[in-house]
Amino acid sequence: MALYSDKVMDHFRNPRNVGVIEDADGVGEVGNAKCGDIMKMYLKIDNDIITDVKFETFGCGSAIASSSMATELIKGKPVSEAMALTNKAVAEALDGLPDYKMHCSVLAEEAIRNALEDYERKKGAEGSPQVNEDHG
Ligand code: FES
Repeated sequence: MALYSDKVMDHFRNPRNVGVIEDADGVGEVGNAKCGDIMKMYLKIDNDIITDVKFETFGCGSAIASSSMATELIKGKPVSEAMALTNKAVAEALDGLPDYKMHCSVLAEEAIRNALEDYERKKGAEGSPQVNEDHG
């Protein structure tokens, strides 16, 4: 049996949504201390829907395939759904990863969560302080 599924190889060779979003609403970056691989996610969010997502991954083939698949899974989805994305779901969508490569898919889950947290932080900052003009 091949070590990697066709889907892993496809997303590794032709990764979807590679790049940078300059005016991203949320950016998340994570690294794995053991292997030194780094993943960065950029999100564009409109009305709590992820309208665009791009990634940069400096890492192994499984990390590239995981980030590519993860972007496909959350594009067009509400923030709440993206927040609930697990590395297992990413690995399943890739038709599996070898056990010792599962940690690579964790990077994708964490990078997306970090980017969403960044978005929430920015949104919160924009919303406050609350000024009520009516009583001015
Ligand atoms: Fe580092 Fe895959 S070996 S993310």
